[in-house]
Amino acid sequence: MSTHRIVFAPSGKRGDFAEGTSVLEAARSLGVDVDSVCGGRGICGRCQILVAEGDFAKHGISSSESHLTEWNQVEERYASKRGALGAHRRLGCQAKLCGDVVIDVPPESQVHRQVVRKSADTRQIALEPVVRLHFIEVAEPNIDEPSSDFTRLCEALKAQWAIDASMPDLRVLNTLQKTLRAGEWKVTVAVRKGRDIVGIYPGLVETSYGVAVDVGSTTIAAHISDLYTGETLASAGLMNPQIRFGEDLMSRVSYVMMNPGGENEMTDAVRAALNDLVGEVVKEAKITRERVVEMTVVGNPIMHHLFLGLDPTELGGAPFALTLDKGQDVKAREVGLTIAPGAYVYLLPCIAGHVGADTAGVVLSEAPHMNDDVTLLVDVGTNAEIVLGNKKRLLACSSPTGPAFEGAQLSSGQRAAPGAIERVRIDPQTLEPKFKIIGSNLWSNEDGFTEEAAKTGVNGICGSGIIEAIAEMYLAGVITQDGVIDGDLQARTSRILPEGRTFTYLLHDGEPRITITQADVRAIQLGKAALYAGVKLLLDHYGVDHVERITLAGAFGSHIDVKYAMVLGLIPDCNLEKVGSAGNAAGTGARIALLNLNARDEIEKTVGKIEKIETAMEPKFQTHFVSAMAIPNKVDYFENLAKVVTFPPKKEITQAAEGEGGRRRRRG
Ligand code: FES
Repeated sequence: MSTHRIVFAPSGKRGDFAEGTSVLEAARSLGVDVDSVCGGRGICGRCQILVAEGDFAKHGISSSESHLTEWNQVEERYASKRGALGAHRRLGCQAKLCGDVVIDVPPESQVHRQVVRKSADTRQIALEPVVRLHFIEVAEPNIDEPSSDFTRLCEALKAQWAIDASMPDLRVLNTLQKTLRAGEWKVTVAVRKGRDIVGIYPGLVETSYGVAVDVGSTTIAAHISDLYTGETLASAGLMNPQIRFGEDLMSRVSYVMMNPGGENEMTDAVRAALNDLVGEVVKEAKITRERVVEMTVVGNPIMHHLFLGLDPTELGGAPFALTLDKGQDVKAREVGLTIAPGAYVYLLPCIAGHVGADTAGVVLSEAPHMNDDVTLLVDVGTNAEIVLGNKKRLLACSSPTGPAFEGAQLSSGQRAAPGAIERVRIDPQTLEPKFKIIGSNLWSNEDGFTEEAAKTGVNGICGSGIIEAIAEMYLAGVITQDGVIDGDLQARTSRILPEGRTFTYLLHDGEPRITITQADVRAIQLGKAALYAGVKLLLDHYGVDHVERITLAGAFGSHIDVKYAMVLGLIPDCNLEKVGSAGNAAGTGARIALLNLNARDEIEKTVGKIEKIETAMEPKFQTHFVSAMAIPNKVDYFENLAKVVTFPPKKEITQAAEGEGGRRRRRG
């Protein structure tokens, strides 16, 4: 029998095959990535290929559509039911060799294709499915040769897909007989990691779904993805119901300490919230819960432990011992989640007692471990999680920044919501401010602002707004490098108001009145100094004095203007072009782990190598902290920043501790 040459693009793999070999068979034997759910029955359409026309000197062959067998009945049937295939397209399982061909495998026919992410800077996600769908035809029971439905299902999986299935979950078995009969002995089996049956569906099912969840202490966000295309189909979020047990993490740990069994209440609350979120995203994606075959979860160590039902008490104090730090597969039903009957939830690994699976998600998303640049990743919340390093070394710590960056405990602070001030500019001559609120694109001094603001009100100042307000106050000379509001400016502007023995800057004279008090400035200084001191410790340990790239993660990080974060000294000096926000990088990390099995291995290995620095145990932390109280810093010069920002002339005011009286004295 004659043989013919087949060359696949883009892989370049080639081989000689006997006449009559299908393109799909040739691809399989060469290890070319061509998808199939139906196993070559011509019904799923996943194996579509393109035939190249013309002479290919490079390959020494002349390729033509006529070098494949003619369009057959199976393809006719497929096209009549599902629509025409398009020019030069064939079903790879039906088209057989009768000459030499060059075959293009389009991305949608590849199992391991790339999912395009918006930013060119971020790594693209490669699909490496954890769960794959396999259509099979199962033999009907025969009274002469009695065997169980499960045995015949296993035989079909083995014969048609070379899969040795393990004994499934009882819940999966429970669905087996009805599903086989409903599908008239044709079913699609969802198989995890090539062995575990997690769901069985009647007939041909072509797509399965996964949900990635980021359990934050304030909000929980879920994203449902099509596991075939990698596309996110719907997202939903809600407030973490554990808030009723305590606003911040430590108060939730205290709740557990004070209320025996309190961890169970919190576990039930977070699991119920996750189930609700799954309900929301499947509704929006117009599928049933049973089609969700895999979930991934990230969260800080306390959220991680409470979701798993592990007591977080030890995380409340030194040495902050985790019960579990490794990446973990758990049965979805064991953690109270209703999805496919045998589905699993994968939790990313925790890095340390203060640095959780959410930070592992950020690392997976931003991939500093694959980069040469010494990169700083910062996720700012009540605690800042900080990761520094590159492909040679990675270090991590957390720093207690406090709630000020979330707008909490500030005199006019509020969460980022419509009506919150998020941008601030102060004229250095007049000391007059202008601002923008969430919900309007206009500056407060522009025509139409009053009308727009009437819809939401001007209600307070959020985290990004306070960063800009204080940085602008510094640049305009309203506060000194030490963060003292200069009361002498009362002579120049009515915006400086006395308050006890300190002063306040009036940002907006409305209802409510929005001010930046001396105590607000102090709260922000304490937070930013804690973050910066953590960064400095990591730089010390790494043995470098600057970073080459900075990525801010999290909701806060995506809203702040990085230039102002640097003016304030929240982050170290760096070329501003290399400073950016990654948005919800923790959630993206969960999504990568959902779509790519190898990524789980990668993040577990990477986390295993991260050096953990405990800030509380480091004597130099205090020294760095004291220097970092100044704006931007007492000892560090911000060389890159100085190229784009004019620092104000040095002005120092020593003032007795706020609220304790004493005379003010001007120097310099
Ligand atoms: S493999 Fe399903 S149509 Fe070809």
